[in-house]
Amino acid sequence: MKAKLTAHAEYTISKIDDRVYGAFLEHLGRAIYTGIYEPGHPTADENGMRGDVASLVKDLNVPMVRYPGGNFVSAYNWEDGIGPKEDRPVRLDLAWHTSDNNHVGVHEFADWCETVGTDMMLAVNLGSRGLDAARNFVEYVNHPGGSYWSDLRIKNGRKEPWNTKLWCLGNEMDGPWQVGHKSAEEYGQLANETAKAIRAFDKNLELIVCGSSHANMPTYPEWEATVLEATYDQIDYISLHMYFENYEKNTANYLAMSEKLDQYIVTVSGVIDYVKAKKRSDKDVYISFDEWNVWYHSNKQDRPILQGEDWPHAPRLLEDIYNFEDVLMVGCVLNTFIRHADVVKIACIAQLVNVIAPIMTDPDGSAWRQTIYYPYLFASVYGRGTALDLKIDCPTYDTPLVKNVSYVDVSGVHNEEGGTLNFFAINRNGDETIEVDVSLEGFADAKIIECKVIKHDDLNATNTADNPDNVSPTISDSAKVSGNKLTLSLAPYSYQMIRLKI
Ligand code: AHR
Repeated sequence: MKAKLTAHAEYTISKIDDRVYGAFLEHLGRAIYTGIYEPGHPTADENGMRGDVASLVKDLNVPMVRYPGGNFVSAYNWEDGIGPKEDRPVRLDLAWHTSDNNHVGVHEFADWCETVGTDMMLAVNLGSRGLDAARNFVEYVNHPGGSYWSDLRIKNGRKEPWNTKLWCLGNEMDGPWQVGHKSAEEYGQLANETAKAIRAFDKNLELIVCGSSHANMPTYPEWEATVLEATYDQIDYISLHMYFENYEKNTANYLAMSEKLDQYIVTVSGVIDYVKAKKRSDKDVYISFDEWNVWYHSNKQDRPILQGEDWPHAPRLLEDIYNFEDVLMVGCVLNTFIRHADVVKIACIAQLVNVIAPIMTDPDGSAWRQTIYYPYLFASVYGRGTALDLKIDCPTYDTPLVKNVSYVDVSGVHNEEGGTLNFFAINRNGDETIEVDVSLEGFADAKIIECKVIKHDDLNATNTADNPDNVSPTISDSAKVSGNKLTLSLAPYSYQMIRLKI
């Protein structure tokens, strides 16, 4: 099969916001406890944070991590996680039916963020609580001192404010499963008033209002219109979430689901434009896609705990074991965000450790990279710069959900400062190699830095503690450049990253 691609230096979409490579950590299952935090682990630091996990996170160059939830935040008292650990209460978490000793709270999380070189993105509880708890939390985190909550932070050991910019106004408030679920009108009003109040503490905050939990919600996209009309002047981003599932065990249909993501982003961009026009506003609101990933392998594992009578601490929940097929899906999702760099400014892979995550740990044992670690690593490290508006001419296929799905899914990123041009390409065809002729326009003297391929004969192949490199990238010579022509040979069902020096 053959395809043609044109990359022109002048045809760009937008500068990519680095924060599109963000991640998410929730007090859920083993994400925190025996994930990032495990006092007594052989690699733990003086704060009880696992060094092996921190090192895998550092390599990802994660710009910021959303915390502490997720559904968890909608019944969370942030004050439970401050002060001496021995005085912190054990609480029952209504979202995941577990208990939490609160040994990790905002101080421990902030210290860990400093260790791994990332920023915090914090969520406030607009489910069981509201404006008052939110404003106190912002004062605690961001006010320099001389007030009740900021002085308490100082007493608890942190003199300087953290100056956290990104704040989520609740989580998935459109979902009936959410503690304190609200109608769009109720939520819009609460989010607007909360935004006004917390901006009074700090004018530099960037605020994120909840959009739909996924594109199949019955209230979508009316929810976005109502909430944005209520909050437009006070907020900066609208949050979207989407998880992907190979529910039919059909790889071609599964890989086409990134086209649903594409439609979701286009529709919500349209709603933003509609509200902007209706308000005669010149302000822009962008999308924060702050939960996305593949999520379905672990569904059966979760049910006994979610329906059980006891309240376990840090049980195995949502521990998807990712396979090679998921590498291709995650690659397509990341490409979609790059191609929408003009509207998607923030995104968070959900989550980062153990819970639907690229990093897995064994308690008291090792930490390893799941298969999906690699496309996320490559995009985060090498996908920074300007997104190119590539033109592709490639055969397509149809699925019951989406028509005209290109067999090649590709994004291109030009980093002018570094003098690089990088492509991330997925072959969605399981039978044929695709030979891609790339015309490089306006890029002089291109030379291949490296070409890395992720490919496995078994779509179900996974990485485990005993076989952690089963699915991992290899160096390939399948890309060649001559003058302004680049040729790529994409093996059936494969992921490729091609980096050029220009
Ligand atoms: O990431 C897992 C859960 O998915 C989050 O808690 C929730 O926001 C979403 O439904």
